[in-house]
Amino acid sequence: MPEHDEKESKQFYADIPAKHEPFFLKGAGALDWGMQNRLARVFNPASGRTVMLAIDHGYFQGPTTGLERVDLNIVPLLPYTNALMLTRGILRSTIPASFTQGIVLRASGGPSILKELSNEQIAVDIEDAARLNVSAMAVQVFVGGEHETQSIHNMTRLVDAGLRYGIATLGVTAVGKDMVRNAKYFRLACRICAELGAQVVKTYYVDEGFETITASCPVPVVMAGGKKLPELDALTMAYRAVSEGAAGVDMGRNIFQSDAPAAMIQAVGKVVHELMKPERAYDFYQTLRHEVAGVRA
Ligand code: R5P
Repeated sequence: MPEHDEKESKQFYADIPAKHEPFFLKGAGALDWGMQNRLARVFNPASGRTVMLAIDHGYFQGPTTGLERVDLNIVPLLPYTNALMLTRGILRSTIPASFTQGIVLRASGGPSILKELSNEQIAVDIEDAARLNVSAMAVQVFVGGEHETQSIHNMTRLVDAGLRYGIATLGVTAVGKDMVRNAKYFRLACRICAELGAQVVKTYYVDEGFETITASCPVPVVMAGGKKLPELDALTMAYRAVSEGAAGVDMGRNIFQSDAPAAMIQAVGKVVHELMKPERAYDFYQTLRHEVAGVRA
């Protein structure tokens, strides 16, 4: 039993008001401590942005190029990512539990590329998400798609479950083959996700009006990578997105399908966290790439 504390000269600093530091993420000030803490594992508190590495493609398209061996292709990239977006199957089987950055768990699924992709259901129990200690759950939202209402309902159910456990929900605005990709559409889709409770939204970059998408969305927007581009183009897209209000990127193929994924993810990090100009980041990528090639030779 501790001894009675009889010290008279305690320091209460009665003249100094208690510090109140607002949480650094847009729209997240009213969230509970646990959810803020989890979001601070996904977003770097110093820059307010994230380099999230998306490797969840297998949930509907199997062993995607660059993800054939996650242990060999992706695990070496972990030191350079703020967060990893993936399925619980790959998380449990392949990712070392010593990884302490954010985990964004793919929480919807169902159809493969052989079927109608918007016909998703929730694919994870909230208790398993908590057991895995994830920071957020990701769910595809098909605004305008065949199963629009069902996919939005998936999201709102995850939001409700996530609020009970302090786990954030990332609404992913999915684009079907025949759907338009412009600022008007993404403003609609992002705003619906945020209005219905998603704490973070992922959407695609558009050349015109991207800043209107981020401005009209009350929570952080992260830019989706999309199909593989030449490295300079991908760095330029990331630079424009963060300059126009994105809170970082959630990139997959533009990193793991690069000729030098470790160099590319570090170059993306320079753009996202330091706002390095794309041309300089590309030089940085080339330098790292040649260093690795030199070591191998
Ligand atoms: C979107 O449909 C999924 O979340 C993808 O599996 C993934 O996140 C896409 O990443 P990227 O388009 O950058 O390869």
